[in-house]
Amino acid sequence: MKKQCYIRGFGAFVPEKVLTNFDLEKMVDTSDEWIKTRTGIEQRHIVAEGQSTSDLTSQAAEVALADAKMNREELSHILVATCTPDAYCPNTACITEDKIGLKGRMALDLSAACSGFVYGLKLASSLVQTEEDANILLCGGETMSSRTNWEDRNTCVLFGDGAGAVIISATPTENSTAVVDVELSSDGSLRDLLTIRGGGSSLPYKVGQTVPDEHFIMMQGREVFKHAVRSMVGVCKDLMERNGLTPDDIDMLIPHQANMRIIEAVGKKLTIATERVFVNVDKVGNTSAASIPIALGQAKADGLLEPGKNILLTTFGGGFTWGAALLRT
Ligand code: ACO
Repeated sequence: MKKQCYIRGFGAFVPEKVLTNFDLEKMVDTSDEWIKTRTGIEQRHIVAEGQSTSDLTSQAAEVALADAKMNREELSHILVATCTPDAYCPNTACITEDKIGLKGRMALDLSAACSGFVYGLKLASSLVQTEEDANILLCGGETMSSRTNWEDRNTCVLFGDGAGAVIISATPTENSTAVVDVELSSDGSLRDLLTIRGGGSSLPYKVGQTVPDEHFIMMQGREVFKHAVRSMVGVCKDLMERNGLTPDDIDMLIPHQANMRIIEAVGKKLTIATERVFVNVDKVGNTSAASIPIALGQAKADGLLEPGKNILLTTFGGGFTWGAALLRT
């Protein structure tokens, strides 16, 4: 990247309704013990009837604006990373823009599954190279519950709903966080291992047809696990090396909150001690593109982003897509 850009505000929002493992025991053949042991998840937040992704992103945006102490009129671009948009058309960025009382901005959705937010960081970083006055609202928001097959115990225990947002600017302020570097990758030959195909042009809906299982999340869990760990570890090593850092220089690793075993494996292979690895998957589950910005919003609210820290983000998702970003608070 030619020059750094800066995060001026962080925000996270999860819907009020909580779905516990004990609630899931009543829905499918599973147990709190199985879910906790295999995933570390205890509960997840789920939208109320009628609540959609833009309701979550707009709330997270309000928190980020307040954190940045920024007037909303100063926002120049609205980016929303999501694989569960409100609709195919209009995009969720336009709806978010309207819900926070704006119009006239560039408003774009990004699709890179769980990696969408980190992909968005790269895009926002590129935009500020050409537009000096840019103040970009970048949200990661998901209503995973809308694409969950609630009869499939393999997947329905994993996901949750929520949104996170950051505001990215070309110029720093007193407490802003620098986006130092971002590295992204992908491998489309592995696309069938994690899918939400139904309704896309490869599997269109037909009027009157019963909704097929492919409408919902389908996943080959063990394969996903293997690739997720390998890819996140590899991209983190590359990024640290490129920036002259060792694992000891990383004050906090924020990995995609897919499940506890993936998080632990990534931390261990990178030799980053457990106490420096951020975890909230137990409380929110896997919120896909919202996972990292929710974690960042929570870390900011909890006072964990004090000045002078190196924060390493890493992500992995359907596509497959993956990446890492280095932040300096
Ligand atoms: N409750 C009880 N039993 C279950 C459940 C459940 N919720 N889900 C699966 N099982 C059963 C299976 O049916 C299987 O039973 P069988 O042996 O009688 O056939 C048994 O448990 C073992 O199933 P596996 O799939 O082999 O279980 P595994 O140990 O691999 O754990 C898991 C499954 C947790 C999904 C694991 O593969 C994993 O963590 N994968 C990573 C996937 C992931 O996190 N994806 C998130 C989306 S991608 C991303 O965000 C990066």
